[in-house]
Amino acid sequence: MIVVGCSAAHVAMVIDHQGKKIDINDANTCLNCHDDMKGHSHPVMVPYPPAGKEKEYTSVSAVKKSGVKLLDGKVTCITCHDLENPQSSHPIKNMSKSELCLVCHLK
Ligand code: HEC
Ligand code: HEC
Ligand code: HEC
Repeated sequence: MIVVGCSAAHVAMVIDHQGKKIDINDANTCLNCHDDMKGHSHPVMVPYPPAGKEKEYTSVSAVKKSGVKLLDGKVTCITCHDLENPQSSHPIKNMSKSELCLVCHLK
């Protein structure tokens, strides 16, 4: 379990996910069940952009404009996933995988 402070105020949005009622605006909640990250792994709870690597990443304002969500300046599960999106794997904003990556990564 990763424990992080809850400084970011958020509005609860409770939906049914795999038979459980969960608050999809709570980035920490995902990690209760998805510890092992089967299938894929991407760093989460890391600051954006990572210190010293700013040249490899787009600006924070460009990320915000895209609709991809940083929480407290960090990349979380709900940066890339919107469980309200019925598409399989629930990507944020109906983006294709490569579109999503290019929102942040310049290389
Ligand atoms: C109560 C436990 C639980 C919580 C909390 C939870 N999940 Fe899941 N999730 C599951 C289970 C079980 C599956 C189905 C098996 C699998 O794919 O790992 C799943 C599947 C998924 C899938 C694959 C698509 C699908 O729906 O089958 C995504 C994407 C996903 N979860 C994202 C998230 C995100 C993002 C959060 C936090 C907002 C979250 N989950 C919170 C239990 C949970
Ligand atoms: C940088 C973007 C990004 C982040 C951050 C991210 N995901 Fe994903 N996730 C994806 C994409 C894109 C897919 C679509 C499957 C693929 O092609 O890898 C996916 C697929 C999944 C799936 C389905 C896995 C499968 O095998 O089909 C689950 C479950 C999931 N993510 C859960 C999470 C959880 C939980 C977190 C936070 C710990 C998280 N993701 C963080 C981009 C992300
Ligand atoms: C919201 C911005 C964002 C998005 C979207 C995003 N990433 Fe990342 N990615 C990061 C950050 C931040 C790191 C952490 C880099 C670090 O700490 O050095 C990272 C790290 C990685 C790493 C680990 C290697 C490294 O440089 O440390 C890989 C691989 C990666 N991302 C691939 C992807 C892929 C593939 C996608 C699209 C599915 C994607 N990323 C989408 C921000 C993002």
